[in-house]
Amino acid sequence: PRIAVIVVAAGSGERLGAGGPKAFVGIDEHTILRHALTRVFAAPEAQVVIVAPRGREGDALTEALEAAGDRRDLVSVVTGGDTRQASVASGLAALWADVEIVLVHDAARALTPPAVFERVIATIDSGRDGALPVLPVVDTIKRVTDTEVLHAVDRDELAAAQTPQGFRRDILDAAYRGADREFTDDAALVGAAGHGVFVVAGDPRSFKITTPADLERARSLVATSPL
Ligand code: C5P
Repeated sequence: PRIAVIVVAAGSGERLGAGGPKAFVGIDEHTILRHALTRVFAAPEAQVVIVAPRGREGDALTEALEAAGDRRDLVSVVTGGDTRQASVASGLAALWADVEIVLVHDAARALTPPAVFERVIATIDSGRDGALPVLPVVDTIKRVTDTEVLHAVDRDELAAAQTPQGFRRDILDAAYRGADREFTDDAALVGAAGHGVFVVAGDPRSFKITTPADLERARSLVATSPL
């Protein structure tokens, strides 16, 4: 395929406190990883590389094959690294030769609708180097020290970054080869390499499951809406 999705799922999930890797925590009868993958496989056809925690590669493959339906041949699983960036690098190393567009997606954003994938792909297809789904910031954000408020930051200049973040494959590969430090996300890494990243509309359902409260929110969402 022309498109690939790297689903990073190798995080430890310490802040969730479920006693094991976050990707395998259940939302309903299905795990966070399984929900993420169901939506990935409902998006346009792509190679899907799952980056799993060391020792859980087999479990990730089982989940992926169940979610893939007739796209089973497009699935691969690789072992993650100590940081998200290292995990993405593992995924990049597994891409097939014909892939031209790469989306990097957090498994923890398990309820991200397929339409977001379509918007990101369409943006790269229209000639952009990178595409980042964002949501407007609703809170008033202040710049602070440990003890003092310095000033408010203009909300119009702020957005909350989500995934999947999409890039031309050659640009993402080169940016990762040249990365000499840890970046907050792929858009920051590609931006530091000198490429423009275009903004597309994110979705509230793409929130990242991080804390127990986030897991509760995901549980009530899947209980009330199908996809
Ligand atoms: O920890 P956090 O939820 O912010 O991580 C974002 C995503 O990156 C998660 O889906 C997590 O599984 C993944 N990750 C990874 N390898 C790491 C750390 C995080 O694949 N070493």
